[in-house]
Amino acid sequence: MTLPGSWKGKLSLPVVASPMFLTSTPELVIACCRSGIVGSFPVLNERRTEGYATWLDRIEHGLSDCDVPFGVNIVVHRSNARLEADLSVTVGHEVPLVITSLGLNRDLIDAVHGYGGLVFHDVVNMRFAEKAIEAGVDGLIAVTHGAGGHAGGLNPFAFLQDLRSVFDGTLLVGGAISTGRQILAAQMMGADLAYMGSRFLATRESSAPLRHKELVVEGRAEDIVLTPRVSGVPGNFLRRSFVEAGLDPDDYTPPAEFNLSTTDDIKPWRDLWAAGQGIGAITDIPDASDLCARLQSEYDQARVVAAAGFDGPCV
Ligand SMILES: Cc1cc2nc3c(=O)[nH]c(=O)nc-3n(C[C@H](O)[C@H](O)[C@H](O)COP(=O)(O)O)c2cc1C
Repeated sequence: MTLPGSWKGKLSLPVVASPMFLTSTPELVIACCRSGIVGSFPVLNERRTEGYATWLDRIEHGLSDCDVPFGVNIVVHRSNARLEADLSVTVGHEVPLVITSLGLNRDLIDAVHGYGGLVFHDVVNMRFAEKAIEAGVDGLIAVTHGAGGHAGGLNPFAFLQDLRSVFDGTLLVGGAISTGRQILAAQMMGADLAYMGSRFLATRESSAPLRHKELVVEGRAEDIVLTPRVSGVPGNFLRRSFVEAGLDPDDYTPPAEFNLSTTDDIKPWRDLWAAGQGIGAITDIPDASDLCARLQSEYDQARVVAAAGFDGPCV
């Protein structure tokens, strides 16, 4: 295990509830952290930097007596005009974990390290991973085949093996992890932490529309389509959300430009809903704290089964 030293003894499960655009809320982050896992949210979930700062105030207040760290996701892409202002608020609040995606920024990494924070970086291939290692990130998140939203194409067994051969920092794996047994499986594959999105989308605290949550509960792997249609980068989305928006889910035409905004006629991300292939295991919309308790019990049970050996009892 290569958990960050400052996190040792603080988590009850090796899980980061990953940041989800238009879905993660301060309430979800607080519930996750108070239940012993790392909660996170994208800074762009609030339309303005001032709103982002207010969310941080709410989370810090909600976690004042809780030791579990939380994280924010910053999109490091040239289209993100808020990068500098959001980074300044992040540094001011000394956010414990910054998750960067869609680009690397050494100034950001230095600024976060400057106050003792950690930077984990999303990667989908070895080229991006090697650049991130060179830039000095503390953790790599292997976003693998079947992950909700922007996803990679690599198999998690293969990708974790390759990453571990060049990186001795914290390794996370994301993609279709929905149960406690799968959290243990992620560790057995070589990850230090499981990175879980869609499972936390279907909780009461998430701000995804009810229909989005219902489609997650009703669906299974084959109800997901991998398409560049929403942002220009391949991502996993619920086929049914295209149909209900009057679009053909099998039309893979990307937008003219990379697009993370919600300003077009059919609003990407607002009307076309992301989810990963692991939704078959999601059958309810619980409170996040109840979900974490269930994941803990599934994880503990899976450890007992694993300890019994390959011809031990089956659960
Ligand atoms: C609705 C939704 C929105 C997402 N938005 C973001 C985001 O804003 N930033 C980000 O880094 N990842 C985003 N992701 C990806 C997740 O952080 C994570 O990589 C993914 O959910 C893991 O796969 P899983 O959904 O199969 O658990 C999103 C995923 C979903 C399902």
